[in-house]
Amino acid sequence: MDLTEMFAERTARMKASEIRELLKLLDQPGIISFAGGIPDPALFPSDAFARAFAQTMEGDQAGSALQYSVSEGYLPLREWLVGEMAKVGVPCSVDNILITSGSQQALDYLGKLFLSPGDTALVNWPTYMGALGAFNPYEPRYDQLSINGNRSADDFKDSAKAETGGRVKFAYLSSDFSNPTGETVDRRGRESLLDLADDLDCAVIEDAAYQALRYDGEDIPPILALEIARKGNLEACRTIYCGSFSKTLSPGLRVGWIVAAKPVISQLVLMKQASDLHSPTLNQIAINAVARACFEDHVSGVRKAYRGRRDAMLAALERYMPNGVEWTRPEGGMFVWLTLPVGVDGADLLALALETQKVAFVPGHAFFADGSGRNTIRLSFSCADEATIEEGMRRLGLALRAAIG
Ligand SMILES: Cc1ncc(COP(=O)(O)O)c(C=O)c1O
Repeated sequence: MDLTEMFAERTARMKASEIRELLKLLDQPGIISFAGGIPDPALFPSDAFARAFAQTMEGDQAGSALQYSVSEGYLPLREWLVGEMAKVGVPCSVDNILITSGSQQALDYLGKLFLSPGDTALVNWPTYMGALGAFNPYEPRYDQLSINGNRSADDFKDSAKAETGGRVKFAYLSSDFSNPTGETVDRRGRESLLDLADDLDCAVIEDAAYQALRYDGEDIPPILALEIARKGNLEACRTIYCGSFSKTLSPGLRVGWIVAAKPVISQLVLMKQASDLHSPTLNQIAINAVARACFEDHVSGVRKAYRGRRDAMLAALERYMPNGVEWTRPEGGMFVWLTLPVGVDGADLLALALETQKVAFVPGHAFFADGSGRNTIRLSFSCADEATIEEGMRRLGLALRAAIG
């Protein structure tokens, strides 16, 4: 008997990422790793969560916290989010918000909502690997999202039709301090993207997972805020905003949210009912309590810690990188993206760096929907202290010099 023969066609595109498999091997003593794109657990507000969970379980709320609940999400949390969204220029009501199990679930639902096989999703080259993983089972074709590029809407439409007979359904992007490059789309780029989406008549999926983690420079309004300013109100907007508490409070509790026009939210609520009924109530209650008690203070501490690590990494890159290596200078988030001299392969470099220098990072090509970008790598500065970053960059410099020859 071979059950695998009976798996649906969509599973053909659900492959284990070779990178993720490789990263499992990195948890060995002596290795300095800049591979995992995760928050530093030392920065989690553990005491505040301990109090929130204890108070919920000891109080009158225990029964409802352990009971089934509404698919839309815990109302007081959605009410708090209404206030937060208003602060960034997105006036909305609780009916515009769906709580999800992390923004990863939002990406899965949005793929399910929009993509029929052969439809086109516009994504950056490179883009968040997890977004490709979320969209792949819906069998899309990908095209390169080039903001301010020289391709017209008709060009995107024609190639979607010619290649797979589908249409462009959405543009997906991580607007601030993206994973993997750390880059931010400036205001002009956001306005051009909205022009393109209007011409294409497609949705915009704005992944705001890192938006709260700005270390310097001016805040740029979310794409959704710019669209509301153009069109008067959220109900007229094509942008769908995906937020997350993973990078600010805790990824383990799996709480994120979607903000969109009501017809979009209503359909997503049906999807959530069919998928997991609702996100864990207890976690939503705890996030709500901690967010109300200390969100701004806590996040400003997180920013301070990561800013120091970002600065340490940029300074060490200046010191140790050989000629011909270029890198981004992110104003926030967790990542720096390196472009290596042509011909230096990021995956080969990882093998060499692990063996000879015991330093790890993520080869960049897994972030490209077309499999290109072999001479790129992603470094994460979120989990290492400044001294480790200095030593790690020194080792990376040695590995690179050996690779370049
Ligand atoms: C750009 C981006 N979007 C979404 C996610 C998913 O995060 P979560 O599901 O924890 O909210 C991540 C996680 O690393 C990410 O980097």
